[in-house]
This record gives sequence, C-alpha cells and structure tokens, in this order.
Amino acid sequence: MITEPKQKNEDRSLDLSLRPQRWEEYIGQPAIKENLKILIQAAKNRGQSIEHVLLYGPAGLGKTSLSFLIAKEMGANIRVTSGPAIERVGDLASILTNLMPGDVLFIDEAHRLNKLIEEVLYPAMESRTLDIIIGKGPSARTIQLELPPFTLIAATTRIGLLSSPLRSRFGGIFRLDFYTPEDMEKIIARSAALLGVTIDPAARRLVAESSRSTPRVANRLLKRVRDYAEVEGNGVVTLEMATRALQLLEIDRIGLEPTDRKILEAIIKKFQGGPVGVQTLAAATSEEEETIEDVYEPYLMQVGFLERTPRGRVATALAWQHMGISQPEQRHLI
Ligand SMILES: Nc1ncnc2c1ncn2[C@@H]1O[C@H](COP(=O)(O)OP(=O)(O)O)[C@@H](O)[C@H]1O
Ligand SMILES: [Mg+2]
Repeated sequence: MITEPKQKNEDRSLDLSLRPQRWEEYIGQPAIKENLKILIQAAKNRGQSIEHVLLYGPAGLGKTSLSFLIAKEMGANIRVTSGPAIERVGDLASILTNLMPGDVLFIDEAHRLNKLIEEVLYPAMESRTLDIIIGKGPSARTIQLELPPFTLIAATTRIGLLSSPLRSRFGGIFRLDFYTPEDMEKIIARSAALLGVTIDPAARRLVAESSRSTPRVANRLLKRVRDYAEVEGNGVVTLEMATRALQLLEIDRIGLEPTDRKILEAIIKKFQGGPVGVQTLAAATSEEEETIEDVYEPYLMQVGFLERTPRGRVATALAWQHMGISQPEQRHLI
C-alpha cells in the first residue's frame, strides 16, 4: 500500500533524510511561509517567543517539516511529542517544566490529546502557568508553577476534532494545501538530487502527476521507480521505466491506487453512487474509518471524485467516468 496513516519505518527515515533543512528548500505553500516569516520577524524584533501555531492538513504535506523550520528560524530548540504519547497529566507537566526559555514544543497528532491534558494545556498556553494538585482528598492543594516563555506548535490532520477552546489559544492557524504540479516537480527534483537518482524530465512529470499532490508520496514513488530502473534498466529513470514501475504498483494516471478505486467502486456498485455513510463504507471495503477519512478521502475530494454530504459520501459524475462505469440517467446527484 502506498499511503498509510501510520508511517512505516522506511517512510520515517526517508522523511528525515529528505526533510528541508532551510527555509528556501521548503517548496510551495507561499502564503503560509509569508505569514510565518512575519510572525517570526515581529517576535524577534520584540525579543519574544512567537505565538502558538497550529498547522493542519492531510498527511504528508509538510507539517512536521515546517515546524522544524520555524524552530530553526527562531534559533530555538525543539521538543517533540505527540497527542497519543502524552497519556497522563504528569507526562505533560514534566515536559512543560523541563522547557527552557524560548523553546518550541511540537505536539504532533494534536487531535489525539485527551480532554484532561487539554485542560492543563490551556493555562500553560495562555498565561504560562501550570496548576498541579498535590495530595489527595481534603488535604489536597493546588500549587501554581510559572513556566518559561515557549511556543507550542501543534499539527493535526483533523482540525475538526480539536476542541474550540484549544483552537482559540493559537495565534496562528494555517492550513496546508495540496501542492501544484510545478511544486511537485521541484520537490521531486530536489529529492532525486539528494538521493543521487537520475530522472528524465518526462519521468519526473509523470511521478509528480501520480503522487496525489503530496510530497511524502512523491518521495516514496521516486524510490520505487528508482528501484525499478536499477533492476530492469541501467538505473536512469526514463519515462518508460517510470511508466512500467507505476503500472506494476497499480497506480493510475492521476495517482489513484487500488484502495482509492476500491472505495469508489464500492460507492458506485454497492450503493448506486451514494450517499453512503463512512461507517458503512468502511465495512464494505474492509478499511478503517479513520484511514478512509484521513488518507483517501482528502485526495478523492481534491480531484473532484467524492463529495461529503450530510447524508454521506457521494461519487461524482467524474468518478463514474474515471471508473469506466456508465451512470444511470435518471439519477439525481445529492
Ligand atoms: N514544502 C516541501 N518542500 C520540500 N519537501 C517537502 C515539503 N513538504 C514535505 N516535504 C517532504 O515530504 C516529507 C513529509 O513531510 P512531513 O513534514 O513529514 O509531512 P506531515 O508532517 O504533514 O505529514 C518530508 O520529509 C519532505 O521530504
Ligand atoms: Mg508529520
């Protein structure tokens, strides 16, 4: 499978080695970069930490990379953790009390923070205080600790699951967008140079078009076509090599993989095009609901194949066309 919610090890090391190290290497997302530069410069001028930042958007679009770059730009140390890793209030308290002035705390998968933890986080974000309860029962008392100035950067694929009090405590909230074809080509060219892969311009374009407008997918496909060209050719990724490698992976011209097609096929064939609830769809395709929502749907919606309606998911006319199934005439869409 090409896209998975939980990153595989290979992916993680690939992310590390290909992660942009300098602001200029971070391609695309011009509006976000511009806003962040101003946020950072203004804070620097005032000699303060930047306000807390929330980055959201589908997996693999560069949220983690951007967080590291922000810290670097500020000359700050970055402490990395994630929503599911902070199990108890004590875990968060120990992270917060160990921060040094000016540090960046990066919390990945912020939508998976539990409510109790969130409540400790609010005052920490707002007034840099931490309330700790010592003892139990009648003798319990609260002590308030003051925290050093710090910046929280949170990343999430599911902003809708964040409570609104948490959301409201961020000074900057930015949504990462899918990348343009030109930016995807630039990202692939950069990754190819770093990996020492020779790739023809036409092959680069094909890989760009097949990568769901997502840098992480591009990096992975680049490695797969490189492998193919090494085994079946002389190592140079030509258009022919790339075409054959992608065919073998069953990735079509617009980057849909077998699971995407399975989802579309289920909506069209089992549910006459929808609407169908995501739970039912998950059962019909043997995929997890969360995987469908986080990994597959965002891109299917981006290319206009899927619509979310209050009554469920609907396959659009474009999707019927792409799947080569003719749509019954008197159907009313949505
Ligand atoms: N704007 C970008 N420019 C260049 N490469 C990028 C960019 N965004 C992401 N990448 C590449 O994609 C990989 C995955 O990005 P990452 O920051 O881990 O995404 P996310 O945290 O949103 O899932 C990175 O390691 C990097 O190689
Ligand atoms: Mg990430």
